[in-house]
Amino acid sequence: MGHQLRLAHFGLRTSNLPAAIDWYGKAFDAKTRFRNEVAAFMSFDDEHHRFVLWDDGETGVKPENSGGVDHIGFSCGQPSALADEYERLKALGITPTVCVNHHFTSSLYYRDPDGNEVEITCDNMPTKAECSDFMESDQMVAAMQPPLFGAEFDPEELAMLRDQGASEQELARIGL
Ligand SMILES: [Fe+2]
Repeated sequence: MGHQLRLAHFGLRTSNLPAAIDWYGKAFDAKTRFRNEVAAFMSFDDEHHRFVLWDDGETGVKPENSGGVDHIGFSCGQPSALADEYERLKALGITPTVCVNHHFTSSLYYRDPDGNEVEITCDNMPTKAECSDFMESDQMVAAMQPPLFGAEFDPEELAMLRDQGASEQELARIGL
């Protein structure tokens, strides 16, 4: 029998709790379910909390190349939904630092106020099974070239193509 574990939440140490609450509140349209002077528990769906943010007053700056968690990723569906997310966040004053087409996915990468990287990603294939098959193929071997593991794209172009009525398949090719 397999296990029953599911990803539940992330705990993020912050040097500025109000700024972190504001950013996650806006970026994820998240509700703060509990908050005191040192911590906040927030959620954007039916899970009681997806983020716990806390400030113990001793948070230091994490070096870019430190070991540990590098980024946290959230999926939004098909490429047109990624364009929607790009525009929703842009209207809130939140813009990506880099956008990359990874062939089987496309991703927008953001930094929260503490410098943690948050990825918003879409699937570039109609089903999870097709994405998984690609990942185990020789095409994946050829595509995964560091440092980007794909090709950079312009999110404004993605939004423009969606507005022009491009198909999900066409949007999935952005930047390639
Ligand atoms: Fe990722």
